[in-house]
Amino acid sequence: SAAEKGGYDYFMLKEIAEQPKAVADTLLGRIDAAGELRLDEVRIPDSVLREIEKVVIVACGTAFHAGMIAKYAIEHWTRIPCETELASEFRYRDPIMDSRTLVIAISQSGETMDTLMALRHAREQGAKVLAICNTNGSTIPRESDAVLYTHAGPEVAVASTKAFLTQLVACYLVALYLGQVRGTKWGDEVLAVIKELSAMGTHVEEVLTTMEPVRELARGLADKNTVLFLGRHVGYPVAMEGALKLKELAYMHAEGFAAGELKHGPIALIEEDLPVVVVVPSPRGRSVLHDKIVSNIQEIRARGARTIVIAEEGDATVRPYADHLIEIPQTPTLLQPLVATVPLQVFACELATARGNEVDQPRNLAKSVTVE
Ligand code: G6P
Repeated sequence: SAAEKGGYDYFMLKEIAEQPKAVADTLLGRIDAAGELRLDEVRIPDSVLREIEKVVIVACGTAFHAGMIAKYAIEHWTRIPCETELASEFRYRDPIMDSRTLVIAISQSGETMDTLMALRHAREQGAKVLAICNTNGSTIPRESDAVLYTHAGPEVAVASTKAFLTQLVACYLVALYLGQVRGTKWGDEVLAVIKELSAMGTHVEEVLTTMEPVRELARGLADKNTVLFLGRHVGYPVAMEGALKLKELAYMHAEGFAAGELKHGPIALIEEDLPVVVVVPSPRGRSVLHDKIVSNIQEIRARGARTIVIAEEGDATVRPYADHLIEIPQTPTLLQPLVATVPLQVFACELATARGNEVDQPRNLAKSVTVE
């Protein structure tokens, strides 16, 4: 009913709007007065976490994209090797695990069969399993050694939005916590990032207030067949998530590429007026990547692409090459996905509406897939 949707036309719109609060709620009570993390609920002793030699993340769909981003954060802040794998592929390749492997299973519903089978396999091999989950008491947390709940609240729309942002927050918390427990050469950075993380809800709020041009842009692309998405570093999984949203909601052909791979194939797809969304990393921080992606934008534009550029506020270098510029607040590089994903959600939702699609219940999809 309309009341359930809180005055919004779709649950998805309501859930997009709830993201600032969901992000804040997932942080709530997990940072102490000294600015350090308190994750007592993660019932894996610090002594065990100190001995972990490898982290493996398993998940499906949107949760898999959160896991891809987590890999960058975990390896950077903890120096523990980390791999992220589709849960449906994981156990069939005989993966190497032992008691010093931490497996992180990410799932909004806690009922996805592929993810559940992956974690069962991991536990059989003696790995410790930490679930990141949004649904209290669901099967995946019940079968894990520990759980860190995301506090997104119930997510009704099939296409995941607020659950994704809170999965990211939970992943950052785990990465920073591992860094805190094990000691990291980035000690000061970890403290600074914990502080920055607390500001991310506000940044998401800021993004939400600037979405009208994104909706207008989406409406103008309703008759297109294909949209490509490019990103690098954590912007690469963001590009994949943007493409997934468009497939799910707009039933359009959409693909997310690592921008560095452009020259190895995807550039052949560029043609006159093809919309290409580019997620640009901060010009501060990893500026080499920034420069490379600016050249990518020039390359595809020279071949006729219509460039839709998501870049940090104040990033003047991209302006001359952006047919459409979507500005997001300045954040630390690793946290950028929390703000960069939001315009892509709004974009897909508006395109779906413009194409007359059912936003909350896309064809052929289920909110939770409980078969393998
Ligand atoms: C389904 C949903 C996706 C979701 C995926 C994983 O395919 O349609 O939106 O990302 O399952 O769900 P989970 O509940 O495990 O996060």
